[in-house]
Amino acid sequence: MRIAPLGRFAAEIEGIDLSHPLSDAEFCPIGRAFLDHAVIVIRDQRLTKATLAAFSRHFGELLVHVLNQYLASDFPEVMRLSNTDETGKRVVFRNGAEAWHTDLSFTNRPSLATLLYGQAIPPVGGDTEFCDARAAYDALDEATKNRIAPLKAVHSFSRYQTHRFPERPLTDEQRAKTPDVAHPIVRTHPETGRKALFIGDDVISHVAGMEPTEGKALVDALLRHATDERFVYRHRWRRGDLVIYDNRCTLHRATGYDEDAYERTLLRTSIKGTPTSPGSG
Ligand code: SIN
Repeated sequence: MRIAPLGRFAAEIEGIDLSHPLSDAEFCPIGRAFLDHAVIVIRDQRLTKATLAAFSRHFGELLVHVLNQYLASDFPEVMRLSNTDETGKRVVFRNGAEAWHTDLSFTNRPSLATLLYGQAIPPVGGDTEFCDARAAYDALDEATKNRIAPLKAVHSFSRYQTHRFPERPLTDEQRAKTPDVAHPIVRTHPETGRKALFIGDDVISHVAGMEPTEGKALVDALLRHATDERFVYRHRWRRGDLVIYDNRCTLHRATGYDEDAYERTLLRTSIKGTPTSPGSG
């Protein structure tokens, strides 16, 4: 197995076949690279839903996403993000991931990590961008770090859905499962101890204790800073890539492609997370 730096902060891993079970010792360097780089890309895999789920469990317990319309019918821990249905027929798929976000930030235990497996990849477009929210935090001036240190932002899935997909409201059950939740704007990584910006676009309704316009201006400015190209790795997918990212210290977003001309299918698993600060969640 070879591990090499990729882009500004990610790492690429080659020479390992994840279709067979891995021992804890074999997983160890992958887990280390995940903590060091926050985004890792394991090339040339041939995974089924079962082998993807089995490998994913090395990172923790799998969760079943609240958007149940995208779950694989035979494997609810696996989501199918695709403009085809399970029979291969083309369907309209509006990717909800085109705003910068960290997965499931609208829950009180946001997802620890996400694994995305590239099953069908368009020849152009459909990249995924990642930003290193640790490096973005480190690069802030001291006055800004002090200003944001005590602040919490309220993440609202209903707001996100209403803003981005007014035609696709949450069901009553989905809304009941995702009440608004406050998270620190600066999150300390529970394993590495590094601080990172924990924010998102469109998902934040307000900053607790701040005037709405002031809070919005602050979050917008932090987002602009964090997603500056010096902190961003843009992943150009190859079929068979398994991309794993640490939601505790990165943001990401999907980019567009010609959905009429090409298929894009990613299989996704999500790992259960922990509360973002002591006493919350
Ligand atoms: C996601 O955020 O889960 C998917 C990203 C992508 O479609 O590129």
